[in-house]
Amino acid sequence: MNQKFVTWISPLKLRGSDEVSNLYSIPENYESMRENISKVGIFTPLHVIEGVVVSGNLRLRIAKELGLKLVPVIFLPKQNISAKLMAVSYGQQRIKKYSEILKEYEILEAEYPVGKGCRTDLNPEMKKNAEKKKSLNISKSKIYKLKTIKALAKELYGEETNSLAEIWSQIDSEKTSLNSIEKGLKREKVIRENAINIPSEYELMTDRAKVYNKSCENMSELADNSIACIMTSPPYFGMRDYGTGKDQRGLERDINEYIKGLLNDFKDCSRVLKDDGSLWVNINEPVIDGEYYSISHQFAIAMRKEGWKLNDEIVWIKKNPVFTQAKRSVRSHEYIFHFVKSSKYSYDVSWLRGLTDPNDLISYGTSAKMSNLISGMDFRDTIIRTNGNNMNHLRKDCKEQGFNLTHSAGYPISIPLIAILTTSKVGDTILDIYSGTSTTGEAALRTKRKYVGYETKPEFVMASEVRLRKHLPEEILDAA
Ligand SMILES: C[S@@+](CC[C@H](N)C(=O)[O-])C[C@H]1O[C@@H](n2cnc3c(N)ncnc32)[C@H](O)[C@@H]1O
Repeated sequence: MNQKFVTWISPLKLRGSDEVSNLYSIPENYESMRENISKVGIFTPLHVIEGVVVSGNLRLRIAKELGLKLVPVIFLPKQNISAKLMAVSYGQQRIKKYSEILKEYEILEAEYPVGKGCRTDLNPEMKKNAEKKKSLNISKSKIYKLKTIKALAKELYGEETNSLAEIWSQIDSEKTSLNSIEKGLKREKVIRENAINIPSEYELMTDRAKVYNKSCENMSELADNSIACIMTSPPYFGMRDYGTGKDQRGLERDINEYIKGLLNDFKDCSRVLKDDGSLWVNINEPVIDGEYYSISHQFAIAMRKEGWKLNDEIVWIKKNPVFTQAKRSVRSHEYIFHFVKSSKYSYDVSWLRGLTDPNDLISYGTSAKMSNLISGMDFRDTIIRTNGNNMNHLRKDCKEQGFNLTHSAGYPISIPLIAILTTSKVGDTILDIYSGTSTTGEAALRTKRKYVGYETKPEFVMASEVRLRKHLPEEILDAA
């Protein structure tokens, strides 16, 4: 048969291709295509090989539904390629969804496997494959992402068709980015793995470090006047759900409730803190519905009303802030409030004199170099500058212990080090009431203090243990 010419024949003499039907889904505009064809008929020829339509399956289906007498056809010679590949080669007209492009890509890959490092330009078959893949009009990185998503979904849901269909419909609708879908699946995977590997309660109890797995609201384990320094950072308002239920701070209905909850927690701090002790609170300012509400300052004022003396307000400047796009500057600072119970608080900055800095930027006293004070370990101009915290090491250590660390809201160790060195002595006990992964605990142990933490999430208590055990060599020997 001559492949150049259009022939008009009855659609009843043609068969649809199963390969094409399995590859592509019915498009959303099917009804409007049908209506259009009912008015003007079919002009674009269907491609047919041996009675089977390899391109134009939808039009054939509509022609049969509408009872059209004739459709235009170009007959193609039989080809020496698989039916699947034929479907990919000829099914070119429609706008394809991600799921369809991935299926096409996988067919091409299976038909023309290309080994790593192969010169596709030298081998004609591989060259064909490379060109076909190019014609799919999708970048390698997107294909890689789609494959990763497919593998993750399979790992999580196996043959659970409803969940898989839900994911592919999310992908194809393009309302959520591929990155977010991948992130969501990875999060789900981590949650499932942790549910197996993390017990519902976990505590760290050693001589020098204890982390209680409970809310800090009531610290009945601690004696009155037993703590020299409290350094802590509460969950910020409305930012993160740690998944620990009603006890967790930060998820209250409004700011007043949030501040009330914090004041309640800090009440017990007043009981356990020595009269000359210090409470340091790092608290950030979220944007809520496009506005700042000065939550950190509202909190500081409320603490004063509760009887705490506000001794200092330090600005922590992050040298590598997270870039945000809005009609305001990129926020790169947080506050650290230093509260005390009485004017007789203990305060020692002699440790600053011994500090050395390879860049010679630290000085003490009234040196002319004062304007250069930018080290994270100094704060006499009320500013601490540090990079954001990097949890990668701890994350890796936790993985090696068989669980995933999902936490990423810790502060860099310079922050608790400054508080501890300034307002406690060797042998004192340091407390963090929102302990997280116990950065404060590490600072305490490294400076020869003891540590107590309260934390509601068992995963973070386990991560605290991973972190703190390195600084408790004697306990490891005892346990052996
Ligand atoms: C901002 S993070 C603290 C991070 C910590 N500084 C670190 O280095 O990892 C706040 C922590 O408070 C915990 N938390 C929330 N509500 C709590 C409560 N009522 N009692 C104790 N911990 C709580 C959260 O689970 C979270 O780990």
